[in-house]
Amino acid sequence: MKQFKEEVSLLLEKHVGEMMDLQEIRESVEVPKYAEKGDVAFPCFKLAKSMRKNPAMIAKELSETITDDRFDIVAENAYLNFFVKKERLAEIVVGSILEEGEAYGATNVGENKTMIVEYSSANISKELHFGHIRGIMIGSSLYKLAKFLGYNAVAVNHLGDYGINFGKIITAYKHWGDDKDIEERGVRALLDLYVKFEKFSKRDEKFMEEARQWFHKLEVEKDQEAYDLWSWFKEISLAEYNRVYDMLGATFDSYDGEAFYSDKMPAVHKELVEKDLLFYEDGMELIDMSDYNLTNVIVTTSAGTSLYITRDIACAIYRKNHYDFYKNLYVVGSEQRLHFQQLRAILHKMGRQWWDDCVHVDHGLIMLKDGKLSSREGGVIFLEDVIQMAVQKTLELIDQKNPGLEDKEEVARQVGLGAIAYKELSTSRIKDYIFDWDEALSFEGETGPYLQYANVRAHSLLERGEADLKDIDYSHLTEEASSLLIRELSSFDEVLETALEKHEPAILSRYLMGVAKLFNRFYQQVSVITEDEEATRAKLALVKAVSQVLENGMKLINMEAPKKM
Ligand code: ARG
Repeated sequence: MKQFKEEVSLLLEKHVGEMMDLQEIRESVEVPKYAEKGDVAFPCFKLAKSMRKNPAMIAKELSETITDDRFDIVAENAYLNFFVKKERLAEIVVGSILEEGEAYGATNVGENKTMIVEYSSANISKELHFGHIRGIMIGSSLYKLAKFLGYNAVAVNHLGDYGINFGKIITAYKHWGDDKDIEERGVRALLDLYVKFEKFSKRDEKFMEEARQWFHKLEVEKDQEAYDLWSWFKEISLAEYNRVYDMLGATFDSYDGEAFYSDKMPAVHKELVEKDLLFYEDGMELIDMSDYNLTNVIVTTSAGTSLYITRDIACAIYRKNHYDFYKNLYVVGSEQRLHFQQLRAILHKMGRQWWDDCVHVDHGLIMLKDGKLSSREGGVIFLEDVIQMAVQKTLELIDQKNPGLEDKEEVARQVGLGAIAYKELSTSRIKDYIFDWDEALSFEGETGPYLQYANVRAHSLLERGEADLKDIDYSHLTEEASSLLIRELSSFDEVLETALEKHEPAILSRYLMGVAKLFNRFYQQVSVITEDEEATRAKLALVKAVSQVLENGMKLINMEAPKKM
């Protein structure tokens, strides 16, 4: 629709350019929600002010004076509605989708701009549980979107690999560790060690004392044994996380985590002192945040150690220097809202003009329908187990409904994961929600499988039709079911931009659902393959365009598109 909006803007400039400049016109034209109101509309309220005339009157006059063979122009109340001539709409939209293929929708809005998308940011030695899926899905989708829109996108996993927890794990390992068990069971074994530590340290202070010593060895003394153990735990954890990321299609360009910033903290501290931003209380160093209506921030504890936020200050500054980002997105749960408000405010206080380019892309919680995130035995639910369960459940469904399907396992994987991805990414980011298996895996209603199935239908039509899709006669695509579908396809480019701008993949997910629904309606109302060869080819071109948009879009919300299911 961007093209049509621009055409309308230029056309309007010729007629009302004296009252409004082109930029103002561009900002005024809009895409009406309903097709009856045109493909592009221009509200005349602004003109009414400068012309001192009733807007409906202006709309009416303009509809009489402007003529253009690309559009039908109709005045309705204060609006001037532009309808792209149906055949032209089909030719431009379907034609460019077929021509651009996998690149359709990609623009260059992000050219020469670096967008950092930080997501997942897992805590080493701890499991990835089901609750983590939210951030992974949202982050990975925004990263893919940014890339598709031409940004130099950088995905960062800001690992939680620093802090007293590592003192605890090392202590536990020294007392009870079993190398073979850790190699075999990975994070689950580390987690058990951690739990054991917590149990014992409640009874005996000595464990906590040891943990502090190990942490000191690790951070301050740069002790080799402590460092080697830390590296090993990190390796074990990452191997496991990467398995999960792979399954979900999530990738990263950097794993620079908290520990990476430990040698970058002194410079931050120096700057805070020089800019006179610190005050002292009970041996701690704090930043007064009262001028921002936020709680004060401790940057150094009485033991002289840095904190989570101190490392984030160093990290933001490093990212600016190293990447010179245009935007630095933190995809992190909304429970850390205060933390990021404080971080942004501190950067502002430090005089960093770019503080506002650091954005907390916050999201709500996810819970499983039967209970929270813990299993019946009281342990956590590992994300990996949930993913496997999704695939398993899908396989059972396929066995019931379509047991002869080829590559059953592969399709089950695509559909099971697609169900999770759609469910995650069609819910507004900020909402908490409850995950219900039966609902997510259903083929009815707004689900991943429904979306994938629409595309499968398109493929089976294309396979049956076997037509060459060159030199299409677009006059066969002017009846309503086709036009509505084409109109919807045409807004794909703008939907992508809006989804990224608002950091909201749900905008794209819901859009794709809209396309799938319109396509299913088209499928019921229109006979695609008929005796009329030219009409069949035109209809198939549209079917191909629908499938292309669905597939391009699904990729960006972490969904795969099976050809059969
Ligand atoms: N590792 C942290 C946690 O699990 C999240 C890190 C968020 N990112 C950041 N730059 N602070 O709570």
